[in-house]
Amino acid sequence: MTDPKMVTVMEGDMLQPDMGLKRQDLRILRAQINVVIHSASSIALLKSLKRLFGPIIDSTSRLARLALDFDQLECFVFISSAYANAYIPSQTDGLSGIKIQETIYQLQSMEAGKNENEELERELQDVQKTGTSSSYDSHNFPWDYAYAKHLTERLLTHAFAASDKRLLILRPSIIEPAQSFPYRQFCLPMSTPHIIFTAGIALTPSRTACFSSQFKDPYHQSTVDYVPVDVVVDRLLTHLAQGTTGPVHAVAGLARMSFEATWTRTTIHRRIPWAIQPRWTRQSWHSKLIHPLGRLYCTIGASFEFSEEKTLAVWQQLSDSERQGLHLFTDMDTLYHDHEHMRSDHIWTCMEHLTKRQQWARWMSKCLYRSLASFKS
Ligand SMILES: NC(=O)c1ccc[n+]([C@@H]2O[C@H](COP(=O)([O-])OP(=O)(O)OC[C@H]3O[C@@H](n4cnc5c(N)ncnc54)[C@H](OP(=O)(O)O)[C@@H]3O)[C@@H](O)[C@H]2O)c1
Repeated sequence: MTDPKMVTVMEGDMLQPDMGLKRQDLRILRAQINVVIHSASSIALLKSLKRLFGPIIDSTSRLARLALDFDQLECFVFISSAYANAYIPSQTDGLSGIKIQETIYQLQSMEAGKNENEELERELQDVQKTGTSSSYDSHNFPWDYAYAKHLTERLLTHAFAASDKRLLILRPSIIEPAQSFPYRQFCLPMSTPHIIFTAGIALTPSRTACFSSQFKDPYHQSTVDYVPVDVVVDRLLTHLAQGTTGPVHAVAGLARMSFEATWTRTTIHRRIPWAIQPRWTRQSWHSKLIHPLGRLYCTIGASFEFSEEKTLAVWQQLSDSERQGLHLFTDMDTLYHDHEHMRSDHIWTCMEHLTKRQQWARWMSKCLYRSLASFKS
């Protein structure tokens, strides 16, 4: 991968004009690039909309404008999030899974006399000037990050509708370590929410952790959608090659895990001598009653049924030889039955990050978990 004949690295910064790229680099891109895959993003779930405006909404819109000017551009790929539409549960009874389609959801009906372009422009200006918008205020998004991705999807859809270039929006759910490529367990620990959650639960001294759920029996009824990173990449490349347009979910779908299964897999790594049990409240996922990890990963306690129709349709079109070696679906044996799917040293890396500013927690983690650092399963 690092062979300069295959990869050319250009330094840049999404927050700067022209992505902070040098003039000669821009000239090369303008003349030669036919596909842009835009994955750079702030992934800070708890950052305010005001602080996410630059790193998600504005930088993506500016990159899209730049890319639309590339002579050879065929397709622009935006990495969004399956949770961009997670505001939907608040509009249902919350007693069953929430079906989310591979489509762009509009947030509100347009004011009389205004066209879609004017509405979007106004929403964008409101977010930039005030750090919120009436669309945002009237929907229950889990994080400002999710709304930032939602608004960005709509802005891109509008921008590309007026051009002859293709827009592909990939929406991963919760990215897990690889099931196979480049090797099993590959991941960046601090970009892998399940590993961060596992480290957090292992360090929590309390005997209970409270989460928000509308289910009667959240322990058995709620689910978590984990998708291995190689499935995300293979879905991206396959849909890119097959000419798919619009949103595509990169998710476990039917292979999503029950809360019960994920809790067992998570707490198995805990070495504090007493157990921790989940507790549930019907209060909003932003309530102060909720455990800090439950406020960070506030979709715990819900159940999303993300459609995978576009990937199932593409799979049907592929020949046996094209299917060989392609990881378009989560391997349930790896996800459910391999208890070493998360590497111990990766959990340790997250513990080091989480305890950076708390001396007592750092001391406790060293006493109980230091051996994880050198332990590679
Ligand atoms: N992790 C998940 O579970 C998950 C789930 C759904 C969607 N996603 C999406 O997947 C994409 C990748 O996320 P990730 O989890 O892999 O996060 P990540 O490891 O933090 O990757 C984000 C990348 O964005 C780059 N970046 C941030 N600010 C930048 C700037 N101003 N200029 C240039 N580059 C910048 C970072 O570069 P540096 O390292 O140099 O700062 C980093 O390489 C994101 O779009 C994220 O929203 C992730």
